Amino acid sequence: MPLERLQIDSVRCLQAVDVELDPRRNYLFGLNGAGKTSFLESIFLLGRGRSFRTRQTARLVRRGSDGLTVYGEVRSSGRRRRIGVSLGGGELKIRIDGEASLGMSQLAEVMAVHVMGSKLHRLIEAGPSERRRYVDGGVFHVEHGYLEIWRHYRRVLGQRNAALKRGLSGAPLAVWTRPVLAAAEAVHAARQRYTEELSALVEQVGGRLLDRPLRIVYRPGWRQGVSLEQALRESLERDTRTGFTQVGPHRADVDIRMDAGSVRDHASRGQQKLIAAALVLAQVRLFGQRTGRGGLLLVDDPAAELDAESLARLMAELETLATQLFLTGLSDQALRPRKGFPVFHVERGQVEAVV
Ligand SMILES: Nc1ncnc2c1ncn2[C@@H]1O[C@H](COP(=O)(O)OP(=O)(O)OP(=O)(O)O)[C@@H](O)[C@H]1O
Ligand SMILES: [Mg+2]
Repeated sequence: MPLERLQIDSVRCLQAVDVELDPRRNYLFGLNGAGKTSFLESIFLLGRGRSFRTRQTARLVRRGSDGLTVYGEVRSSGRRRRIGVSLGGGELKIRIDGEASLGMSQLAEVMAVHVMGSKLHRLIEAGPSERRRYVDGGVFHVEHGYLEIWRHYRRVLGQRNAALKRGLSGAPLAVWTRPVLAAAEAVHAARQRYTEELSALVEQVGGRLLDRPLRIVYRPGWRQGVSLEQALRESLERDTRTGFTQVGPHRADVDIRMDAGSVRDHASRGQQKLIAAALVLAQVRLFGQRTGRGGLLLVDDPAAELDAESLARLMAELETLATQLFLTGLSDQALRPRKGFPVFHVERGQVEAVV
């Protein structure tokens, strides 16, 4: 499913970009503020229908413009598919092969995008919600219908929380608790299956990138050894007091351990970046195994914060992926491009192929 052609209009500093892309790897070089990350943002927007850095896609619109457009041509199962995402007048429009699309799930079927961005270390350092998003994003790409399951859970959870805030208890509250239990079970089962498979790959990739044992353990969001039903009963008093359901998949986390210790407090910034890279690469591998498709991987400035040895390991690992790669860097000195692949020079919002 490589992206063969990309046109960008008014995304951040990018005014009018039209480039043909290599199905295996593409390099983008340019100074700070040139527009490299904006280029990756545009690809992400095509694949996900939203921004990867900000929750407000509207912020991506170039200052002085009314809206933005990203258009891409993707080779998918031998066919050329056309995707267009535009934002104007506060409305996001997604079209696939000229027809209006309903959103994320359909986009992901045509073009699955993974990203290793500059905030990669946050996967380690930030709170559990980052890691839940990581797991959910992974499941979403390999399990049809997960987005709906997940959205349903959010909906019934919101209803139960509203009931708690209204002061309901006993049988009237149970009416709202039952659907939460059923939906939670579906979310939990999908995540559990996924993380079990993922953890084996994290170990392998982690071993190659860090030369040390790396493990992940999924924490479902309630006390181990009891059912969610039991955990909900135990937290009833607190739920009622706070007006918020305290246990469940919305409180899940992933424990990341290196050398048998938790990495959150111990890993250096560079190590955090490598550990997070291992997690994303494991996800890309699992996606390939489960779907038989390559997908796209956006790697924003891999050279930053990594020493020469670590960068070489990361690049060697990327080498083995059957994925279309987009790699950025300050210059071809920081990240040496492999011969035979296109290099794009990015400067003040212009993207030109270097010949
Ligand atoms: N809405 C916007 N309209 C116009 N320009 C914007 C907008 N948002 C951001 N910019 C500008 O876009 C420029 C490019 O940002 P981008 O993050 O793509 O650069 P970069 O090449 O990745 O730089 P770095 O090497 O520092 O990561 C920045 O100078 C930024 O000020
Ligand atoms: Mg950048």
